[in-house]
Amino acid sequence: MTTTIDELCEQLGVTRAISEDQFKGRHVPYDLQAKWYDRHSLPSTKVVAPIVSERLQGVETVVELGSGTGFRVLYYALNNLETQFLAIDKDRNATDQLKERVKKLKIRNVRVQTRDMYELHGQYAAVMAIDCFFYPSESNAMTQWRTSCLHLSRLVDRTKSPAFFVVPFYDALGSRYEMSEAYVLRVFQKAQLRLDATSSSFEFNQCNGEHWIGRILCGRP
Ligand SMILES: C[S@@+](CC[C@H](N)C(=O)[O-])C[C@H]1O[C@@H](n2cnc3c(N)ncnc32)[C@H](O)[C@@H]1O
Repeated sequence: MTTTIDELCEQLGVTRAISEDQFKGRHVPYDLQAKWYDRHSLPSTKVVAPIVSERLQGVETVVELGSGTGFRVLYYALNNLETQFLAIDKDRNATDQLKERVKKLKIRNVRVQTRDMYELHGQYAAVMAIDCFFYPSESNAMTQWRTSCLHLSRLVDRTKSPAFFVVPFYDALGSRYEMSEAYVLRVFQKAQLRLDATSSSFEFNQCNGEHWIGRILCGRP
């Protein structure tokens, strides 16, 4: 069975989401905020989620770190029914919303927990750190990126095959944060991961028309 992103938007009512003006203008209930976020992120979701989902084929256990309200983890789970997913986020509003969505879609292979990813223990065949720690506006962003990768890649269960750590990198074309191959290789090497040679590149236009480029960085033990 394949669920497309458009179908999932339809099932979750993302297509009927509020406008940006409505979103910014007044206090809006959390489920509407979630839909607004999903719709706003659609340009990146449409390129990132299918690449990640395909990599998850045959993977036993996955943890999605900082899952938010979970549009993407729901998409992965619907398209990888044999894989068990744990979705964690420190924001209870987000996890409550994700739990509602899991119930609504009658999904059986996603567990949701409210917790801090840096305090997570346990091991998972795939660890996905997607858009949960890289904030380019912060001055020490690259150091944070490195520290987070080193810490979170320890959650990969190296006895499993396939096993990997996934972290995407994407930003506006020409930004000062263009991630060099050499930097990624150094960080992954320190984490005892080798960069998957098939790391996929992608590009897309944000809702505001800005052109962004990126790569899915996949580290294998
Ligand atoms: C951009 S959002 C959702 C990203 C989601 N992985 C995706 O692909 O759409 C980032 C989320 O990371 C969560 N987050 C940030 N730091 C966290 C931490 N230390 N532990 C758990 N969740 C965290 C935030 O609460 C937020 O919901």
